[in-house]
Amino acid sequence: MLEIEMKAIRLTGYGNHKNLKVEKIPRPQVKKDELLIRVMASPFTRADVHMMSGKPWVSRLFTGLFAPKHKTPGTGFSGIVEQVGEDVQQFSPGDEVFGETTLGFGAMAEYLCIPENTLVFKKPKDLAHQAAACFGDGPLTAWNFLTRLTQIVPGQKVLILGASGSVGSAAVQLARHLGAVVTAVCSEKNHGWVKGIGAHRVIDYRVENPFSETEAYDLVFDAIGVGSFKQTKPCLTPKGIYLTPVFSFAVLCQSLFNKRIRFAATGLNKKELLKQMMMALIDLQQSGGLQLIMDTQYTPESIQDAHRHVAGGHKKGNVVVHF
Ligand SMILES: NC(=O)c1ccc[n+]([C@@H]2O[C@H](COP(=O)([O-])OP(=O)(O)OC[C@H]3O[C@@H](n4cnc5c(N)ncnc54)[C@H](OP(=O)(O)O)[C@@H]3O)[C@@H](O)[C@H]2O)c1
Repeated sequence: MLEIEMKAIRLTGYGNHKNLKVEKIPRPQVKKDELLIRVMASPFTRADVHMMSGKPWVSRLFTGLFAPKHKTPGTGFSGIVEQVGEDVQQFSPGDEVFGETTLGFGAMAEYLCIPENTLVFKKPKDLAHQAAACFGDGPLTAWNFLTRLTQIVPGQKVLILGASGSVGSAAVQLARHLGAVVTAVCSEKNHGWVKGIGAHRVIDYRVENPFSETEAYDLVFDAIGVGSFKQTKPCLTPKGIYLTPVFSFAVLCQSLFNKRIRFAATGLNKKELLKQMMMALIDLQQSGGLQLIMDTQYTPESIQDAHRHVAGGHKKGNVVVHF
């Protein structure tokens, strides 16, 4: 049978932007329970940068010990169903869909196959592919942390570090939606729009120490891992909690012994739970309670520039590769 080719981003090994290239590879063939999706957009995330670096080493237990197991990176996607397997019931060719492959990767390619019973959803008509593709990064992570790792009680004071990033900008909106009084930390250039999405107060980390107040916060959500429990403890109330989605061996060990320090890898949750959380987020977005903040869009050919941008640590919300 004649093999059809597609364009895909490929990893040549663990490392940096130099380990990314565009290649023609065989288009995947749809199995009985799968959808073949023509991918329109896939986010390039900070988590992708970490996974591509192969650091910390323990993360290689999931991504491959000596080289990346999955040569095509990317977990978030939005696109159009091209073909469905014979057992597929809920989707048809032409449907606009979005979702997350989690540890299956493979989303940064022109085509992707994904089983129908995983994290794939019909895309609301008024949501652009570029925005839909990003649901599984910032929003899903922030929702998991703010509703499952802790439960915000209305009126609680929350400090969000990295509030202008992907996870942070979602956390600002979701914390506000849950009734928190939100203080957001980012540089001055982002203050206007971060207030616009729900922050009551903003702090510029370049001119002010965000941890200088005592017993000011019930929760510190360190979305980019720039602080630590020890550093933030003085500004936490006596039972206050430090949450961070940024993996380090130290945070993992500390969280086992101190219930006030919390970390989780969102993608490792059961599929059913991830599905429920994604559906709650779609409802919230559709009712106007959640915006996906978009930074630059890149073509596959400029993937190394996308990597440099994201790894630089100053993106605004989400960066997307469009195919
Ligand atoms: N555990 C999980 O389930 C999970 C899931 C997804 C992601 N993650 C992790 O979550 C982390 C956050 O990802 P992200 O995409 O949200 O990051 P990001 O978008 O790259 O964050 C960048 C933002 O952080 C701000 N910033 C930089 N330095 C700062 C500082 N010292 N204080 C306050 N703000 C600062 C920047 O603002 P300025 O430009 O204004 O400086 C920029 O807008 C990553 O490490 C990722 O791997 C974890």
